[in-house]
Amino acid sequence: MAENGQHPHDEIVRFGVSINRRLLDRFDRYLSEHGYTTRSEALRDLIRDHLADDLWEAGDGEVAGAVVLVYDHHRAGISDTLNALQHEFHGSILAATHVHLDEHFCLEVVILRGATATVRALAERLLAVRGVTHGRVVVTALGDALP
Ligand code: NI
Repeated sequence: MAENGQHPHDEIVRFGVSINRRLLDRFDRYLSEHGYTTRSEALRDLIRDHLADDLWEAGDGEVAGAVVLVYDHHRAGISDTLNALQHEFHGSILAATHVHLDEHFCLEVVILRGATATVRALAERLLAVRGVTHGRVVVTALGDALP
């Protein structure tokens, strides 16, 4: 800790960016469409997003996140398959919630935390189960990976 109570690497640094006018105009339009009031805040979010994606792809560090699955529970074996996978990876699953959407479709949210490579393997296997009609994974890095 520094004298001001901040982590020494948390000091705010200003830097200049050279960018062509048309790209900056597009960026400013993106800012206003997404409710950003400053370029700095938008740039920080984009950098964190990109770094989180990069860590995910590389399988480094630790992550927390959620997998959302939609599937037809009448499809033979699908409930057993999803259940068996979650038991296999029980150490990486914090919680799971199941909602019966209608007579056919189920929505399941599986909340995950653990080594990126393990969590990624589980997420990919859940999404790849035959009969999962739609799925998404959202993850964030833990620790100092995204200050
Ligand atoms: Ni259901």
